[in-house]
Amino acid sequence: MIDKTRLKTTSSYYKLYLPFIALFYSLNLFAQDAKQAVIPILTKDNALVLKTDDKGRLLYSYFGKKLQQNDEYDVVGQQFFYNDGNEGIYNHIYTPAGSWNLLEPALEITHADGNLSTELLYDSHQTQKTDDNVSETSVVLKDPVYGTEVTVHYKTYANENTIEQWTEIKNNEDKLIHLDKYASANLYLSGDKFYLHHYHGGWAKEMRPEETLLTHGVKTLDSKLGTRANLLSPPSFVLSIGKPATEDEGDVLLGTLAWSGNFKFDFEIDSYNNLRLITGVNPFASRYPLASGESFKTPSFIYTFSRNGKGEASRNMHRWARNYRLLDGNGSRLTLLNNWEATYFDFNEDKLVELFADGKKLGVDLFLLDDGWFANKYPRNHDRAGLGDWQENKKKLPHGVGYLVKEATKAGIKFGIWVEPEMVNPKSELYEKHPDWVIKQPERPEHYMRNQLVLDLSNPEVQKFVFDILDKLFSENPELAFVKWDCNSVIYNEHSAYLDKTGQEQSQLYVDYVKGLYKVLANLRAKYPKLPMMLCSGGGGRVDYGALEYFTEFWLSDNTHPLERVFIQYEYSHFFPMISQCNHVTDWSDLPLKYRTDVAMMGKLGYDIVVSHLNEKDLEFSQQAVKNYNAIKDVVWHGDFYRLVNPWDNDISSVMVVDEAQTKAVMFNYLVSNRYFSGPVTVKPIKLKGLDPAKKYQLKEINVYPGTKSDIQSEATYTGDYLMSVGFNPAVTPRRTSVILEINAI
Ligand code: DGJ
Repeated sequence: MIDKTRLKTTSSYYKLYLPFIALFYSLNLFAQDAKQAVIPILTKDNALVLKTDDKGRLLYSYFGKKLQQNDEYDVVGQQFFYNDGNEGIYNHIYTPAGSWNLLEPALEITHADGNLSTELLYDSHQTQKTDDNVSETSVVLKDPVYGTEVTVHYKTYANENTIEQWTEIKNNEDKLIHLDKYASANLYLSGDKFYLHHYHGGWAKEMRPEETLLTHGVKTLDSKLGTRANLLSPPSFVLSIGKPATEDEGDVLLGTLAWSGNFKFDFEIDSYNNLRLITGVNPFASRYPLASGESFKTPSFIYTFSRNGKGEASRNMHRWARNYRLLDGNGSRLTLLNNWEATYFDFNEDKLVELFADGKKLGVDLFLLDDGWFANKYPRNHDRAGLGDWQENKKKLPHGVGYLVKEATKAGIKFGIWVEPEMVNPKSELYEKHPDWVIKQPERPEHYMRNQLVLDLSNPEVQKFVFDILDKLFSENPELAFVKWDCNSVIYNEHSAYLDKTGQEQSQLYVDYVKGLYKVLANLRAKYPKLPMMLCSGGGGRVDYGALEYFTEFWLSDNTHPLERVFIQYEYSHFFPMISQCNHVTDWSDLPLKYRTDVAMMGKLGYDIVVSHLNEKDLEFSQQAVKNYNAIKDVVWHGDFYRLVNPWDNDISSVMVVDEAQTKAVMFNYLVSNRYFSGPVTVKPIKLKGLDPAKKYQLKEINVYPGTKSDIQSEATYTGDYLMSVGFNPAVTPRRTSVILEINAI
């Protein structure tokens, strides 16, 4: 009897045995000693159970409510009669291609000898506990013929009911193999109907939701844009099982891929009406070579499962992000005045110094200098030139960034700066000096997005160049307090001169670009661990938990029209906590300043207006609003988030945040439709959530515009029970289009 676990597939003579191994294997002669295991992966409320079949293939046998008796996980699969003659084994934990599986695979390999088949059998597993909340189960699967080793990692965050899953694939052959598909996760969900809530978008149109019943076959969500995936579709979704979930009812899997490049989600309904979910890096044009002995680590797929609707799923994900992923997720943030919409490229030193004073007058923490401060030979006075030349423009800033930092400090405000270090305008000195640093096809015309091209981050020299831009700014100006990191172009004409030069394969580029980006960010974080950085990508073009490991916050969209923003913020709130969401008050609409401000307060508040243009009342209102925000920001940033009224189906939108002790909460209410009304739009009360039923609360309206009076009786007290059972009417009307209520336990 051959012990398959001891096959020395890396030795030079293994090839002699291949035909015999294959024969034994096809005759199922290994089955008798197939290793067996039952592996429950548990969070606070849920269980994901893996169990081998008689051939040693590891399958999902259960995904659902945690059982009270651990030993029942051994038999949990017994009740599912999946026996239709094996047109495919649908529930493998990491489905290989080319052997028994004929459905969508998780793994496709071209082996060294050109063979396209892979089998994965259970080999071993171990669980390591990091602390009372976090543990990691690693399951090793092996191909009995080629020795390919796949380790599937399940990292559980018990209290957040969240699992982070990724895979490592190791080449144990003695020559190079190719990974044709290499998913992060392959899940199997049992149910009869699945409703997929996903998103499409475009510039200034981020996060437009659609919900669809999945039918038999494969539904794919993906990006092939290289960078800024969100421009078309973000790598995040909400899946309802059985029936469309509401905020508080229904089984929900909320998932997101931590990857800032091309991604792919395949949702395949099989013949049992179950869902096979396969997600990871998009294999499109990304066949990845793997040398002998090397491993490939996939990005993480992060998912949370709730049996109490979308609201709980979002709160799980927010808590997970604040505690474990977002940089400084439980820390604090800086309110700011940005000059982008106020000046665009048209500013100079004196104008900026005036703006510092304006920011101080407004009461915000920081002034953020946006695009246009750099480049001399081809000055950055518009978006057609200068990108890549990161020297201060001498005409606009004769005394450099250092002077601005000093002047801001003198004015009593911190200073932050915009960069877009991954990109280059063809009209730049950088392009002239290093055309080989640019991603482009050598034999084809260049194709631009916003007049720019993408630098080749697979090249270590380019990685160093990008690192040095930031490092120089920070080391020369240690008081620099904030960075906005932009990324405005997708990758056209994907081709790397560096990969050619080093004899590597072009199909590595999409993956190596993202790896290069993460390397730069990791190096920056090693040197500057705390510096707040905003992730921006021509609006919200790149928002994912791969990048957010290095960023404190993100820019949701260049669309700052407050009405649009209510919808955009509402949808982002499914996946990202309030502390990470930057919203600015701008002049991009003639809606009242109060409405614009109230909307921007739902998240991290900033301004992008000309403060000196505000009339006396508007200025007074804004100054008070910043003070009000400072009083509520702790709960907005760190509290639990509840969606109360959905803007898509109602005349108003309402959300709230509650602190952990249930002593303080804030409720945000916005009118979103002007179609018909003659009285209060909120005829009926809105039921609050997350409060302590036994506590008594007072509700005070904040951000009341000077000269107007609130309709809310702030002395009245209500129990949490009353507020959550009967509700409260914020009295939103055409006169009072937005109402923010500060709720305090007494
Ligand atoms: C796109 C960003 O989304 C804007 O906020 C601004 O920074 C511009 N780029 C600057 O070019």
